Amino acid sequence: MFENHTINFDILKQRAFNLRWATVPEGVIPLTAADPDFPSAPEIAEAIIRFTRDRYLSYGPPAGLPEFKESVARFFQEKRQIPASPELLFPVDSAAFGIYVICKAFLQAGDEAIIFDPVDFLFRYSVENVGALAVPFAIPATDEAVDFDRLEQLVGKKTKMICLCNPLNPTGKVFTRAELTRIGELAVKHNLIILSDEIWSDIMFKPHVFTSIASINEEIRNQTVTVTGYSKSYGLAGLRIGTVVASNTAHYERLFAASLHTSTIHGANVLSQVAVVAALDECGYWLEGFVSHLQRMRDLITTGLNSIEGFHCRTPEGCYVAFTDIKATGYSSADLAARLLSDAKVAVVPGSKQWFGEGAEGFIRMSFATSENVISEAIQRIKQNLNS
Ligand SMILES: Cc1ncc(COP(=O)(O)O)c(C=O)c1O
Repeated sequence: MFENHTINFDILKQRAFNLRWATVPEGVIPLTAADPDFPSAPEIAEAIIRFTRDRYLSYGPPAGLPEFKESVARFFQEKRQIPASPELLFPVDSAAFGIYVICKAFLQAGDEAIIFDPVDFLFRYSVENVGALAVPFAIPATDEAVDFDRLEQLVGKKTKMICLCNPLNPTGKVFTRAELTRIGELAVKHNLIILSDEIWSDIMFKPHVFTSIASINEEIRNQTVTVTGYSKSYGLAGLRIGTVVASNTAHYERLFAASLHTSTIHGANVLSQVAVVAALDECGYWLEGFVSHLQRMRDLITTGLNSIEGFHCRTPEGCYVAFTDIKATGYSSADLAARLLSDAKVAVVPGSKQWFGEGAEGFIRMSFATSENVISEAIQRIKQNLNS
């Protein structure tokens, strides 16, 4: 399922946007946005076709199709040990929008929200879009321990939220139960909302295990709103679908009002919800195969990157992105990314503030959700170019 010949590069060149195959010049390998090169599981296409064949594509319920709500609740109960209830979760048109809805529901202009640094740009973007201030908390991209005393120092009168990204895009760090407990207890003590983005939680490399912060205890769960999506695990980015899970009715009502779903201004596409039900209920075997392929690709890409002079790549514990320290090359992230694009014909994401915050400078990020052939070719091109 995850061999080079299963990838249809012609289709990717027409359909894979967001810095990927459809947007780069011919001949460039885009290891940019984290979106798999492999076709999604066949059961997902079949479910969409079955639903569409009736030719009724009417409005769905604003809070989501019952089968979606039940399937997602079951996932959280069984796979994440969260006593999620179908009534307290709803689909959103992407995890990205879910992050924004949580910020809109719980932040006022002038409030502060703590975000990790480095982290995906979506957190800062959403916090700032509702008029609040994003306060960065450094999470070392090295083996150094997380400084939780520093985290407590960042909490002030205006702090209302802490945004978790676990596993952490771009560093691939997976937070331990002990670390999550520290964060959770701090949130309880200061009455902060915990926004827990778990979109990467299926992409875990052995022996690391994923813990949902909301599964730790009831007190912590009551502060938490969990958001997830299906772009990373099942390759459904173009379907724009995610889920927001509240822990209590008061939070649910605020979140649902912020979503504008009852007005029909926003809402999740019914076909996308049908796709998620098929993914969660029928495609466990596909995900298992994907993650075991990714574990091999992780080892291939980190070994390859670490064999390049001036590169140091720490082995990611989760997420299919390799985050490489390139400071020893003497290049800035942006300059190295530009050189790799123009000379080596490999597109990477530079560790600039725009994408990941200030803590990412001196790094580049590469997605490895592709075949062995593509990764080997990309590494060879980079090596040859930097050696010349
Ligand atoms: C941490 C994180 N959250 C959310 C998203 C966005 O996911 P979606 O495609 O569901 O909007 C991404 C995508 O890269 C991500 O890395």
